[in-house]
Amino acid sequence: MCQVTFDNAMSGGTSQMPAGRRPHQTRAIRWQIRDAVIGDSPAIAQIQVDSYRTAYAGMFPQTYLNHFTCAEQEQDWQATIGSDARDIVLVAASEGNGVIGYALTRSGVGIHLGYDSEVVALHVRSIYQRQGTGRALLCAALERLEERGCRSVMLWTLRDNRVREWYEGLNGQLIDEKQYDVDGWDIIEAAYGWENLSSLLQTLRSSVARSLAS
Ligand SMILES: CC(C)(COP(=O)(O)OP(=O)(O)OC[C@H]1O[C@@H](n2cnc3c(N)ncnc32)[C@H](O)[C@@H]1OP(=O)(O)O)[C@@H](O)C(=O)NCCC(=O)NCCS
Repeated sequence: MCQVTFDNAMSGGTSQMPAGRRPHQTRAIRWQIRDAVIGDSPAIAQIQVDSYRTAYAGMFPQTYLNHFTCAEQEQDWQATIGSDARDIVLVAASEGNGVIGYALTRSGVGIHLGYDSEVVALHVRSIYQRQGTGRALLCAALERLEERGCRSVMLWTLRDNRVREWYEGLNGQLIDEKQYDVDGWDIIEAAYGWENLSSLLQTLRSSVARSLAS
């Protein structure tokens, strides 16, 4: 298990960073990225449910979003963390504030045609967004996929999610769309793909380094 992928109290690229800790405060919120453990399940579930209800408000029927409960999601996370070797669950955890974000990625068969890994979920607590946590989580998760031998990555996102601009800025290619019905609402999702995982990682590492230095 990865001990510490990197610490945002440090500056520089991610993979070059030592695994040890050098605690000093350089930002408003200080966190470290590590593998999730079962005990993180309640915090991850809380972030997930809050994020669904706020970030996806207006994109799904509110009654549907309200169906997600922390108790059920916590059980799901307990079942997910560490149970399937294809899954990687990372959290960004801060000393004072606990888990503030998480990423779930998957590798292996059954990913979108032509891609060997997928970012299944990426969420940061709303009050901690725009401080570089999301990109650092994504970068750390992709590094883990690359270590496993993955060469490409894709993800699905809601068509109306503003995060698409970020994926497009990272040179993600729009590779697919799907449409389905949720309680009478037309839900449209878009898939972005990166055929070259290592080139995406290079871009992300620079972006993380810039964010840590700012
Ligand atoms: C996507 C998410 C994880 C990013 O986390 P974060 O900690 O804010 O990420 P960062 O600070 O590293 O910023 C990464 C990029 O996210 C985008 N972003 C973050 N917050 C945003 C916001 N409120 N509005 C628009 N774009 C935003 C920006 O493009 C930013 O890159 P930039 O600063 O170079 O433009 C976070 O916004 C989130 O949890 N959103 C809700 C859930 C979601 O949509 N997840 C993605 C599912 S595919």
